Amino acid sequence: MEIVIVDHPEQVMADIIANAVRGGASVLGLATGSSPLRTYTELIRRHREEGLSFAGVDAVLLDEYVGLPTTHPESYARFIRDKFTDHVDIGEVNSPDGMTDDSIAAADAYDDLIKGIGPVDVQILGIGSNGHIGFNEPSSSLTSRTRIKTLTAETRNDNARFFDSFDEVPQHVITQGLGTICDAKHLALVATGEGKADAIARAVEGPLSASCPASILQWHPRATVVIDNAAASKLKDAEYYKYVYANKPR
Ligand code: F6R
Repeated sequence: MEIVIVDHPEQVMADIIANAVRGGASVLGLATGSSPLRTYTELIRRHREEGLSFAGVDAVLLDEYVGLPTTHPESYARFIRDKFTDHVDIGEVNSPDGMTDDSIAAADAYDDLIKGIGPVDVQILGIGSNGHIGFNEPSSSLTSRTRIKTLTAETRNDNARFFDSFDEVPQHVITQGLGTICDAKHLALVATGEGKADAIARAVEGPLSASCPASILQWHPRATVVIDNAAASKLKDAEYYKYVYANKPR
């Protein structure tokens, strides 16, 4: 696992995506939420000003709220269109069907779709304050596949800022499982701010455990954690990670 502590994580994240796309990546895994927003803004800028093209690249989202139509401003299908994919020349953008009557079948179908068009070349991830990735809440099986999950009150509370009230945050989601996420060739997690410092410390330096689903990155053959100093503030070995990154072989 590579831990990159920098003032502008979005630049490193955009470099990872741009290098993958220029190197022939055909599938990108996209996260929603606030963490990757600056990365998407930077990728849109590079597309407009530097000719970065996403032609020939398809995308898969990590998750979707159950019960929100894709026209709802907080549906993740709509969010990613508004914040990123409508502004670049990317191909198909796939997401779980949150409006189906049969969430179990929809989740299975989405997992099959990812297997069919995958492997995902780079999966962008954020991290919840409780250590979730995707919406794999604590106690999620480390080999889980795409499925319907119940959001914890903590996550609904964290996400209430996007809705008019806590009660409007859906209780259920369809999320790629930890096993599904780990099928990606490269996991790139971005986090900023002190509010993520505990979760980052547990994910990076704690035990590999379902109690902190993001700790699965320790097990993946190629995982990069890109964070600012505030998000790194509870890492015991922050100076060591900075040394390793500063002395990375060309
Ligand atoms: C969203 C997702 C979630 C978020 C996480 C952090 O697609 O999968 O894991 O990345 O909840 O959310 P923010 O970035 O809003 O703090």
